Amino acid sequence: MKGIFITLEGGEACGKTTQIQMLKEYFKNKKIDALFTKEPGGMPLTDEIRRLILNYEIDPPLEKTELLLYLAARIEDIEKVIKPALEEGKIVIGDRFNDSTIAYQASGRQIMPIDDMINFTENIIDNFTPDLTIYLRLDPQIAFERKKNIDLELDRIEKAGLDFHRRVLEGFDYMAKKEPERFAIIDASKPKDVVFKEILSAIRKKVEI
Ligand code: TMP
Repeated sequence: MKGIFITLEGGEACGKTTQIQMLKEYFKNKKIDALFTKEPGGMPLTDEIRRLILNYEIDPPLEKTELLLYLAARIEDIEKVIKPALEEGKIVIGDRFNDSTIAYQASGRQIMPIDDMINFTENIIDNFTPDLTIYLRLDPQIAFERKKNIDLELDRIEKAGLDFHRRVLEGFDYMAKKEPERFAIIDASKPKDVVFKEILSAIRKKVEI
């Protein structure tokens, strides 16, 4: 495929949303035709899946149901959004992708051993792997301090405790260690402009921007 697929990953309050906003501005100013996706969501069907997973209070999904819903949304995203854009030669920026499932559902929720989850999910998504994964790494303790200062309503996953989020961090660390050539690890506790510069330089190693 002609384009390049870059994902941004990290735990709660790692600054991912802010950095994606800054990237959107950057690409707009440079008139670079990039496509941004966010998992789960982005299309009517996947937005519905997102609502079912994160805000469906009446009868919250079981952990394995949740896993399959994330994967269902991912398949839709890959086939209907990401691949067509890559065929057109675009830069595609994914706000979360399969590493989130490894970190949250395998390491965090402990649905199955991490290597089994890697095999399982890679089979489902036909080994479709990002060219670059930017991992905004933040200690969950700092993340919790950040969250306390933002008066937003937390979703079901964000309400899970510190131990859960420590395991999520371990899951991302595991993937970064397993695939060092794919991962760029960025210390997300640094000021946002510093983080942004590091993101740009990681991207520039793969593609001219
Ligand atoms: P967001 O905070 O980036 O909008 O992501 C929504 C939540 O969904 C976040 O708590 C992480 C979680 N999530 C998973 O647990 N597994 C996944 O595969 C994905 C994509 C997200």
